Formats: sequence, C-alpha cells, structure tokens
Amino acid sequence: MKQISTFEEYKAEYKRSVEQPEQFWSEVAEDFEWKKKWNTVLDGNFEQVNIKWFDGAELNITENCLDRNLKEKGNQTAIIWEPNDPNEKFRTLTYKELHAEVCRFANALKNLGVNKGDRICIYMPMIPEGAIAMLACARIGAIHSVVFAGFSAASLIDRINDSQCSFVITADAVYRGEKKIELKKIVDEALLQTPSIKNCIVFNHRDSAIEMKPERDLWWKDLVKDASAEHAAGSMNAEDPLFILYTSGSTGKPKGVLHTTAGYMVYVGYTFKNVFNYKEGEVFCCTADIGWVTGHSYLVYGPLLNGATTIMFEGTPAYPDHGRFWDMIDKHRVNIFYTAPTAIRSLQAHGNEIFKNKNLSSLRVLGTVGEPINEEAWHWYNENVGKSNCPIVDTWWQTETGGVLISPIANVTPLKPSFATLPMPGVQPVLMNGDGEEISGNGVEGNLCIKFPWPGMARTVFGDHERFRQTYFSTYKGYYFTGDGCKRDEDGYYRITGRVDDVINVSGHRIGTGEVEDAIDEHNVVVESAVVGFPHDIKGQGIYAFVICDKKVDDDEVLRKEIREHVSKVIGAFARPDKIQIVKGLPKTRSGKIMRRILRKIAEGDTSNLGDTTTLLDPAVVDEIKAGAV
Ligand code: WT7
Repeated sequence: MKQISTFEEYKAEYKRSVEQPEQFWSEVAEDFEWKKKWNTVLDGNFEQVNIKWFDGAELNITENCLDRNLKEKGNQTAIIWEPNDPNEKFRTLTYKELHAEVCRFANALKNLGVNKGDRICIYMPMIPEGAIAMLACARIGAIHSVVFAGFSAASLIDRINDSQCSFVITADAVYRGEKKIELKKIVDEALLQTPSIKNCIVFNHRDSAIEMKPERDLWWKDLVKDASAEHAAGSMNAEDPLFILYTSGSTGKPKGVLHTTAGYMVYVGYTFKNVFNYKEGEVFCCTADIGWVTGHSYLVYGPLLNGATTIMFEGTPAYPDHGRFWDMIDKHRVNIFYTAPTAIRSLQAHGNEIFKNKNLSSLRVLGTVGEPINEEAWHWYNENVGKSNCPIVDTWWQTETGGVLISPIANVTPLKPSFATLPMPGVQPVLMNGDGEEISGNGVEGNLCIKFPWPGMARTVFGDHERFRQTYFSTYKGYYFTGDGCKRDEDGYYRITGRVDDVINVSGHRIGTGEVEDAIDEHNVVVESAVVGFPHDIKGQGIYAFVICDKKVDDDEVLRKEIREHVSKVIGAFARPDKIQIVKGLPKTRSGKIMRRILRKIAEGDTSNLGDTTTLLDPAVVDEIKAGAV
C-alpha cells in the first residue's frame, strides 16, 4: 500500500484527494483483496444521508487481515498478548495460528446456527479470544457488537436488547491490576432481561468458579474442539454491516453506531499505514481496549490489514508499578506506541524512577488519542518516552468516523504540541460559525464539521436512521457535525478544543451527561440532578453532579456514596461522579431549561463572571450553589 513519505507529497496527495476523491480512493482500494470489484466508488451525499462506498464490490475483511498474510507472513507473530500479571507468560499467535483459530471459531458459530446479519455481543477481557471472536463474526458476516467489559449489567442489557443480539461471548473472569472482575456473573445478571439471547459462549480464562446454565451456556473450548481450522470466508457486499459500537451523545440512550465492510476496511488499512508510518516487520502497541473504537480500528483491524504485529495488553499502566508500559515496550521491542493522554498524565506524576532500567530504544513513533493532549503532557511524553526522537501523532477522530481524520503523518507532518495538525487525505474539515456558515481563512475558531464523505464513516445508527440524520446531519445542513469545537491557527493547523455538546470526556471515555443524570435520578431521595464536566488534572475532565433531594438528608456523605455506587451499577465504575453537591435548586430559565453554562462555570471554580443571568427564574439559586460548591 502506498505510503506518504514527504510533506510535499502529503500536500499533493491531499489536493488530489479533494479534487478527485473517487479516483483517489479507488487507487487506495486496489491494494486490498476483492472477490469482486466495485461498480461505483462513492454514491450518495450528506443531504440525503445515504452514503455508499465501493458499491457492488464483494469481499471478506478477514481474508484481507488473515489469509492474505499467510503466504509470506504465516509464521510471523500477528498478536502478542501481554497478561495483567507480568510474571505470567505472555502468549503469541502467528498469522497461521490466528487464521486457524478464527476459522475454528467461525465454524463453531456456524454450527450453532449463526447467520449473516445476526448480531453477536462480545463482552470480553483483553485476550486474543476477544479479537478472534470479532474476526470470526466478520468471517461469516455476523455483526459484532463489542461491549467494553467495564460496563455494568444494566448497560449490557440495553446494548443487547437494542440490537437484539442472539449470542453473547464472554469469559469467566479477569484481573485488572489486583482487582478481579467477574464477567460471567455480570453477564448472568444481564441475561435475566435479554430475551433475544439464545446462547452464552464462555471462554475459560481464569478457572474461576462460575455457574454454567445447562443448554444456555456453552464452553468455548467444547465448541472449537472438533471444529475445522479451515473456513472458506463468506462473500460480503461492500455495504454489509461489519459491526455496531455503542457510543454516548447529548441526549437519550447510547447509539449503536454502525460501520460497514469495504469503506471501513480501506480507510482503516490506509490510515494505519500512513498515520503511524508503519514499516514491515514492526511491533505496534495500542493500549486501548477492544471495547472502544480505537481497539477495533488500530489494535485489531488496522494492524492485521497491514500484516503487522499487534500487542494486546490485558493490564493497567499502574500495575504492578508505574513502569509497566515501559517494561512492555522493552520486553516486546515495541516500535510504535499509541495511548491516551489520561494515561500519560497519570504516569507523569511519578518521576523519572519509572523509567529506570527500561530500554525504550526500539520506539520510533508515538501516538495519542481520545482527548486533547495538553502541552505539558505532550512534552513529557516526547522527552521521557520518545527521548525527543520520535514524532508524536495526536490523532483526532471518533467512533462515528471509523478511523483517524485529523492527525500528523509520522515523519512527514511538521508537529506542533497539542495540535492534531492537518486532515488525512480525503478528509475535508470546515469550521462553522453561529449562523451555520463556513468560516474561511486562518486564525479562526468554530464548530468542527466535515463537508465530504470519507470511506470509514458510520452509515447509520442501528435500527434508527432518522436518529443518525438528526444527530449528525441536521445542525448544519449538508455537513457531518462532529460535536467538537476547534481552532485553525495561522498555519492552517487544527487544534481540537473539546466537545461543544453535553458529552464529557473522562479519561478518554465518552459519557453523556444525560445518562449520568438518569442514573442519579433513579436514587429514591433524588428529585433532579444536573451533571457537567470540570477540568481534571489526570482524567482531562471529571464529573460534577448537582443534586436536589426531596427530603432532608441526614448524612450527605452517605448519600454521595450511594449515588456513586448507583451510577456504577447503572453505567459502570468509570462514570462515577467525582464531585456531588447537594443543592436546593438548579439555575433554570423561565421556560424550565437548566442553564448548564452557569453550572459549568461553578464546577470549574470560576464564578467571577457567570455571564448573563437575567433570564433565570430565580437568580438567588446561583448564589446558594456558588456558596456550597465542592
Ligand atoms: C471524541 C470521540 C477516537 C477514538 C477514541 C475516542 C475526543 C478524540 C481526540 C484528540 C482532542 C479528541 C473528541 C471526539 N477526541 N481524539 N486527538 N484530540 N479530542 O472516540 O469515544 O467516539 O470520542 O473524543 O471530543 O469527539 P469517542
């Protein structure tokens, strides 16, 4: 596949990609394997919201990830699994082995009656079987819906039911650091309320004592025992769904963002190779979980499409100590390392000791993703990890975009700390003003939209195309609206400033404030709540909840604890509010709308100028909240 190697070349490629997008993308697509070529490259537009890429083509993404690599790279390592406990032996799977495992599991799924188009929920720890399950689904055309294993039973129920999954794949249990997470027990709880599930497939990871419900629950090992290691990959249409991934927005329940086969493959394969400047034979390490889009695109699909060696890390950056990432890089001679700013900030406070005796000389390229990286963290990463010798690619993208849209190209784009810099070829970002018009020129700021389709974009929200249109294409007619604010500096470089909607980004986890409010409101003494984000040194943003109760609470601390636990139960531990303030009222307009702007200011600790408060129903509420801020 073509790789951009100079800045001049980038500029030329970019220009070409905008002037002749179909020509550009069809050339990129030529580098993949197709059972049948496309009739048209791009169909549809953002007015109609009916995008199709490579329509008429037939392919199987796993043939591109696996079979294609067998001849020359059959014995090369495809996946390195680094366990939570560094004293446990790591595991490797060659391309040949991974291919065989995927075929076996694909055959097993087929034997269970799984058909093309069926939805399969994957609720797995970070072990190779998570990736094997994803690829096995793709091989037979079943749509995988991976749910991050940090989500609660309640969240799992919503996700399974929304897309009517017929199977769920999980493991008995997993350790994250010293904490044991009983995945099967969580699934058992969920399965009481998920009538569409026929079977639960369990991979025995930790020999944990679990209950296997007869007929419903099946052991992974029993299913693959006699399954053939050969499986002729099914032929998928370009626009057949590949996966669903749930993500949070400003309103309502999480949306099942749907990606399709050909466009996603082409986009993710191309961006992996270019953004990271990946070279044959290199070891790539992405620390994201397969439960998020980063894990899908740049831990599983992107690296495998390029025949790379990809690391799956089960643990956490702080276990057994804060040197764990550097240990892993040293041990596996990692060349490209991709992580989140929140992880960098959490390690920054631990001094240089954490690098003692760690050889990081294999590193060539560093990346970040998930949230804006502050300059201090950028420099720390650059100097201590990259030894001022590795480009840092600050990659901006979203679950909905499928792959990276704005990012430096390693060793090509001149860098600027905390800037995502420039768009990938084929991506046309624009900034919009308050009147819904494009802002021209440089040295400007606005809401970030994309004005032309790219192959990796989501096609719909599962089961609700109108919601897809409404969420992304109605704010600015004819544009995809990202929900992010953005600056374009004098050099035309993009710097993402954060969400402009009611989504907060906590340690790179995207959380809708409405979801947290709904969870809090379920508590029996809570009347109403309002949740906003506030700047947090390590997490990027923390969660601040303002809560009104219907009776005098004896002990605020107890209530706070209960609320936190409840949110944990309803969503997952990562969504627990950092700060909870019990208030008598919320700042509302006469029409009853909560003025979040004011609450955000208070949560930020900046109460000097709260802006216009004249539309408030009861301005006194603000003084009370200000006085009680936590
Ligand atoms: C939101 C998307 C893309 C995979 C991980 C998150 C924020 C993402 C950056 C970045 C500043 C970033 C945006 C975006 N974001 N990357 N490099 N700089 N902000 O995917 O959960 O869909 O969240 O993450 O606000 O809209 P996601």
